[in-house]
Amino acid sequence: MRDGVLFEITKDALETGLRGVPVGYCVTSFVDPIKGLTYVGRPISELVNRDPIELIYLLYFGEQGSSEQVAEFQKDLNKRSKCKAETIAAIASLPTVGHPMDAFSAALIVAGMFEGTGDYREDCLNIIAKLPQITAAVINSHAKWGTTPEPKPELGYIENFVHMLNMPGEKTAELIAAMRLFNAIHYDHNGGNLSAFVGKAVASGLEHMYGSLAAAMTALSGPRHGRANQDCLKFVQSVLDDVGENAKAADVEALIRRKLENKELVFGFGHAVLRVEDARATVCYNYCQKHFPTHPLVKIALLLRSEGTKVLKENPKIANPYPNIDAITGSMLTAAGFPYPDYFTVLFGLSRCVGIAIQIVYERLEARDGKGTPIVRPLYLYKSRT
Ligand code: MLT
Repeated sequence: MRDGVLFEITKDALETGLRGVPVGYCVTSFVDPIKGLTYVGRPISELVNRDPIELIYLLYFGEQGSSEQVAEFQKDLNKRSKCKAETIAAIASLPTVGHPMDAFSAALIVAGMFEGTGDYREDCLNIIAKLPQITAAVINSHAKWGTTPEPKPELGYIENFVHMLNMPGEKTAELIAAMRLFNAIHYDHNGGNLSAFVGKAVASGLEHMYGSLAAAMTALSGPRHGRANQDCLKFVQSVLDDVGENAKAADVEALIRRKLENKELVFGFGHAVLRVEDARATVCYNYCQKHFPTHPLVKIALLLRSEGTKVLKENPKIANPYPNIDAITGSMLTAAGFPYPDYFTVLFGLSRCVGIAIQIVYERLEARDGKGTPIVRPLYLYKSRT
């Protein structure tokens, strides 16, 4: 490649979803095709046991905070964490038909009406602080689980969220630990994933933070993006129903071959950037092997991991025959005591809004020596259809 040229735009690159085309800088995270996700240069596998506030600090400030700095940050977020009564009342009155991601995007718009300041940095911090309450209110309302309790941020970021969820069943330490892990691995995935890209593109027109995040969450809602976690769980469940929980590797292998022969989808494999198993998935597989090794869905998800990879590798046209994050998170949440797949993508959104909001602050207030990036306006070549 010529000096200074990052990517040659040839005709082959058109209509391929901008794959591999560099369009800017991301100050929060990077996804290497082989090494996987890093937050501010640190591999995700090394960060998963950190407190959410420590991780949010890392992403927001671009460096690890001392314990005093993190405690100060936590205090600031705690002060911002409670939404106005009008916000929660409006979220509680949203329609309960349709997918909960529709309600989640609408809730962000509604929250912007009551809580927005018009200042990207203030709104970023406010929204990060208020997300647990907004998300719990969306889920409680959509699931008809009753009135959302008052936030108790002093419990901890995810502990507070779980406290506000009126889900039936016990809120065990196991559930909180799995929710913390799920939250930690979903904050950010570089700037080019669809929801981050859309959120920043909308913000480039100077739409406010809440509206930009609402747009980002409609992007996340698509089954090729965030909603894949819900669909993957359905797939694992269907395989379990088919082969039974005592299935052997050969049974799962045969089922995958049958599905491929019938041109049916095998969910949870491949990624636009990654060329090995998703580092986030590896963390979750290890976690499930340690904590839920006998859960039927986990057993099947582990067999799909090995057998799916084996079968898909035989096809040289498949660039990445390895599992992605969505292959395992649904089984993990279910095994941990949250068997509500309709809300898995909302949980993804609770986490991902953090990274996108921080990326928006960078692009609006810091990029190009503070001038900010211009309005997104790529070129489409004219082509006649006749
Ligand atoms: C994500 O976490 O956003 C997904 O893996 C999709 C992506 O990175 O493009």
